[in-house]
Amino acid sequence: MSEIRRIGILTSGGDCAGLNAAVRAVTLHASGNRGWTVVGIQKGTLGLLSRPLQYEVLDPNRFTGELLRRGGTVLGTTNKGDAFDYPMPDGSRIDRSGEIIEGYRQLGLDALIGIGGDGSFAILRRLAQQGGIRLVGIPKTIDNDVGSTETAVGHASAVAAATEALDHLQPTAASHDRVMVLEVMGRDAGHIALSAGIAGGADAILIPEIPADLAHVAAKIQALKAHGRNFALVVVAEAVRTETGEAMRQAAGETASYGGIGQWVAARLEEMTGAETRVAVLGHIQRGGTPIAQDRLIASAFGVHAVDVLAEGRHDRLVAWRNRTVIDVPLEDAIRTYAAVDLEGPLVHTARSLGISLGDGVAMT
Ligand code: F6P
Repeated sequence: MSEIRRIGILTSGGDCAGLNAAVRAVTLHASGNRGWTVVGIQKGTLGLLSRPLQYEVLDPNRFTGELLRRGGTVLGTTNKGDAFDYPMPDGSRIDRSGEIIEGYRQLGLDALIGIGGDGSFAILRRLAQQGGIRLVGIPKTIDNDVGSTETAVGHASAVAAATEALDHLQPTAASHDRVMVLEVMGRDAGHIALSAGIAGGADAILIPEIPADLAHVAAKIQALKAHGRNFALVVVAEAVRTETGEAMRQAAGETASYGGIGQWVAARLEEMTGAETRVAVLGHIQRGGTPIAQDRLIASAFGVHAVDVLAEGRHDRLVAWRNRTVIDVPLEDAIRTYAAVDLEGPLVHTARSLGISLGDGVAMT
């Protein structure tokens, strides 16, 4: 294997807070300490597909103090356009992986650092295998569903945003004697809902991993009322299903995404309890904000470790956080393993022990 002198970096999939901190860390360490050139590829793999190629050489001397703090991704990203099944304007789908690999070669890159989630890594790894690309992954996802790492860039900031939303909702709920329903993201995992619900003092938390019977939530609200409480806070993860198993989806451009279950839950709770309900859908506020300190730290540690992995002559690895340290694991693990909420884990136990309804009627005794 040839020596590394020039690496590419891209962000792929949905954005989140902390991506820029990771790009900054990779560039400072690779360029500042190793003398490598770092090429920022724009809009994920789309930057390698475009002609002319879309990229910029990242110069750490031109970084302002703002990058570490900034939400979103300065490189841009995409969560569309699987290179192997690429949607064309005429409706057909074709394999464009060869063009992306050719773009990578035109940039003269010796390795690639991809910042993404499980879906992005499945595509990037296939490209790497086909093109002989030395690839190292940095996990990011507000959903925190990548199984091989305890946490991913962006999750902590999303939880903080959802917790802050509950802090805003509680006083207005109490002022108006209302039940407030907060719908949060997380795709098929309930991590954001569970963590923010506990941290924000929710009375009920509904997550996709626990099928809910709203009669239990209504009973919880009635019990609170009987004890003199005039409001309630309910957190609903976006992929929670109706009692008949229906998932709420909304069209978003070419694709559909989760959304709307909060309205359904609120209407049902109003019917069942007679309480006035209101709904807040937090949506992309969970993604675009300023990264909290924890995400800046994790992104920085991941960025440095990703460069170290390449410098040690290794690739096809994912950097990960486990037992208070940064490690790296086979990239394949990030694709193969999925982290749903552990129903036997400490947060479910904590929620139940605090008397929070998880919609299944199970209570701690
Ligand atoms: O995977 C991150 C995520 O924010 C999910 O929590 C959410 O379901 C989805 O992306 C929304 O995607 P989009 O930005 O395409 O609406």
